[in-house]
Amino acid sequence: MRISKELLLFIFNLSLVATFVHGSSEVERKVGPSGIPIHPYVIYMGDAPETGTAAVEDHHNLLSLAIGDENIARESRIHSYGRSFNGFVARLLPHEAKRLSEKESVVSVFANTQRKLHTTRSWDFVGMPETLKRNTQGESNIIVGLLDTGIWVEAPSFNDKGYGPPPPKWKGTCAKGANFSGCNNKVIGARYYKLDNTEPQPEEPSPVDTEGHGTHTSSTAAGISVKGASLYGLAKGTARGGVPSARIAMYKVCWGGGCSDIDILAAFDDAIADGIDVISISIGGPSRNYFDDPIAIGAFHAIKKGILTASSAGNDGPTESTIQNVAPWIMTVAATGIDREFRTAVRLGNGMKTSGISINTFSPRKQMYPLTSGAQAANLTGESYGNVSACDSGTLDKNKIKGKIVYCLGIGGQDYTIGESGGIGTIMAVDEEMDIAFPFLIPATYVYTRVGNKIDLYINSTNNNLNFVNIDGQPDIAAPGLDILAAYSKLASVTGYPSDNRFGVYNIISGTSMACPHAAAAAAYVKTFHPDWSPAAIKSALMTTATKMRIKGVDAELGYGSGQINPARALHPGLVYDIRSSLSAYISFLCKEGYNETTLGLVTGVRRVNCSSYPPAQGTDGLNYPSMHIQLARPNSSIAAVFRRTVTQVEDGKSVYKVTVASPKDLSITVIPSTLSFDRLNQQRSFKVVLKGAPIRNAARILSASIEWSDSKHSVRSPILVYKPLY
Ligand SMILES: *[C@@H]1O[C@H](CO)[C@@H](O)[C@H](O)[C@H]1NC(C)=O
Ligand SMILES: *[C@@H]1O[C@H](CO)[C@@H](O)[C@H](O)[C@H]1NC(C)=O
Ligand SMILES: *[C@@H]1O[C@H](CO)[C@@H](O)[C@H](O)[C@H]1NC(C)=O
Ligand SMILES: *[C@@H]1O[C@H](CO)[C@@H](O)[C@H](O)[C@H]1NC(C)=O
Ligand SMILES: *[C@@H]1O[C@H](CO)[C@@H](O)[C@H](O)[C@H]1NC(C)=O
Ligand SMILES: *[C@@H]1O[C@H](CO)[C@@H](O)[C@H](O)[C@H]1NC(C)=O
Ligand SMILES: *[C@@H]1O[C@H](CO)[C@@H](O)[C@H](O)[C@H]1NC(C)=O
Repeated sequence: MRISKELLLFIFNLSLVATFVHGSSEVERKVGPSGIPIHPYVIYMGDAPETGTAAVEDHHNLLSLAIGDENIARESRIHSYGRSFNGFVARLLPHEAKRLSEKESVVSVFANTQRKLHTTRSWDFVGMPETLKRNTQGESNIIVGLLDTGIWVEAPSFNDKGYGPPPPKWKGTCAKGANFSGCNNKVIGARYYKLDNTEPQPEEPSPVDTEGHGTHTSSTAAGISVKGASLYGLAKGTARGGVPSARIAMYKVCWGGGCSDIDILAAFDDAIADGIDVISISIGGPSRNYFDDPIAIGAFHAIKKGILTASSAGNDGPTESTIQNVAPWIMTVAATGIDREFRTAVRLGNGMKTSGISINTFSPRKQMYPLTSGAQAANLTGESYGNVSACDSGTLDKNKIKGKIVYCLGIGGQDYTIGESGGIGTIMAVDEEMDIAFPFLIPATYVYTRVGNKIDLYINSTNNNLNFVNIDGQPDIAAPGLDILAAYSKLASVTGYPSDNRFGVYNIISGTSMACPHAAAAAAYVKTFHPDWSPAAIKSALMTTATKMRIKGVDAELGYGSGQINPARALHPGLVYDIRSSLSAYISFLCKEGYNETTLGLVTGVRRVNCSSYPPAQGTDGLNYPSMHIQLARPNSSIAAVFRRTVTQVEDGKSVYKVTVASPKDLSITVIPSTLSFDRLNQQRSFKVVLKGAPIRNAARILSASIEWSDSKHSVRSPILVYKPLY
């Protein structure tokens, strides 16, 4: 059985934000001028070695054997990991990589690839108002580590007034660098990683954030409360992080939008050893085997040390199996909207009124402007083969768009191309559902094609010079949107275009990138009250108390997991599905996934792993997970599964929990026993969940069900999902 990732994800509906440009997985055979190969590979060797220095020698010897030349080996090795796990980075030719992968002491060898970023009132929206009960002392001992684009420490959200020195457990450092003023008692650590110096250097080495993303995620997780924050007056209110008293440690791994596997691993290696409590990483790439994936590897060694990693699910939904960062030791976070949407009013000369979605920081304009479309403004003498209806760069006649608002199909940088050619605004038509707003370089908005067609018809049906449209900036608090206001870097413009001269201290951006630090902070918040809980217990508390979402659509729980986080409720979940950091549960799970004993011995550091010693009686998935799911073997398979689970009471005293099952009529779910009695704190009770049913009828792909344990005070809900394979 291959683990299906979908259910393991946690919050919210995946939304279309950006398309991933996947890292090149092609093997490059290039050799540089010195005879050293160009391409770096990760050689991952599992659990941390006993001493760091012996490891470096060990790495060198392995490499010399594989390459057959000690001097080339010395020059090929770029970096050794060793603080939190074992491995190294070296420039290799494919046959050398293969030779290394066959070594007994090596878990995996993979070519370095680039991963991508998964690009405030939000806290009130998830039931975490500013007046919420807090353990301020405990919170100030919490360190949230972020792997991101760096940080702009001067943002008001990182003011350290009133903070004492870093907690004694902190072992990290603060690197120096261009345009970086240093750390303070709020941002206590900052490092940067750029191991492959042959890649283009888009900026000077420094922990500073020139992109904005890392400053945004850091302040969402742990920024202090700042009143009157806004983006040019939009989304005005108090901006604050989920755990405003906590400390921040930034590990910069992304440069110019790309984030290297080798740098991500180096950051995990340090972050785990530096003494952080929670990791937030809003980065992803195509799913791979767990131990060929830097985030899964890093998070695995983190959870061994009791550190929970929250990671974004990516923005590629709603197509199935597009989710990323799915290892069960990661808290995988999807993005949801909040009760805010940015709309821009559009009024045509013929009286038609509509609105589109965008973030316009531009002053409202009262006068009307001439309107045209890309199709009508084609450059007839031009040589561009671009798509004129989409207003592709180089396809338009500057004279026909000067001073006009231009209607275009699709979204693809039209604000830039039209602005540059003298147009004053643009309306873009999109087919897909777009529930998030973007800032643009010029007044701009997007509308659905259905509305766009009417605008286009109007453009075509009358004399252009008489048509006018009005574009206003107009926030609206009516419907959900994904747009999160948080601190931004003064070194990055609002849109990121070099020609954009708007630099805000705050910006509104969207994506699972923004959801991830919310979930990381929620986990940190729970930890401040329950410092002894394992990462799995914290994740369980957040999942079983999440607010169920009612989103229509085919993806259901595959899109949003257990529901919307409710951190306040998660403090008292009643029962948790714990996986103590003793590794046997994860080993049992990985045995079922088909990883062999040699690999698991290296990865976990456990001597003599024996997969046969874990009884098949562990149930269908072998992991004490707070959700249950099964992918059927074939589309016409009948349903038969048994999930075994153990819950731990995390409140003191006697209690009796009864189960409630919610399931569609085609699916029979029996919970044995259906009542669980507890006498004291930390007592455990086990039960099994038996699923039976005829094959799922053709129309439905997914059956959603749930079980809920409740006493008089708590309810502990787990979604259950049964779905057909795609093929
Ligand atoms: C950062 O500092 C360097 C000098 O160290 C300077 O040349 C550069 O312009 C600065 N970048 C920004 C975006 O301020
Ligand atoms: C049309 O395109 C050509 C290049 O293909 C360019 O030189 C010319 O300036 C364009 N004409 C107008 C009016 O934009
Ligand atoms: C131009 O782009 C639009 C929007 O992406 C698309 O719908 C249309 O089919 C394209 N036209 C051509 C000729 O490729
Ligand atoms: C408007 O005219 C353009 C050609 O100028 C054409 O491509 C487009 O389909 C027309 N739009 C509508 C809605 O008829
Ligand atoms: C375990 O798996 C690794 C990687 O798939 C493989 O190289 C190795 O030969 C396997 N070992 C055994 C004992 O099957
Ligand atoms: C592995 O576990 C099984 C079941 O407990 C046992 O029969 C077998 O001898 C064990 N193998 C080794 C090598 O210890
Ligand atoms: C189920 O589908 C498979 C092909 O996927 C087919 O071979 C088999 O006969 C089908 N079984 C039933 C009971 O329809």
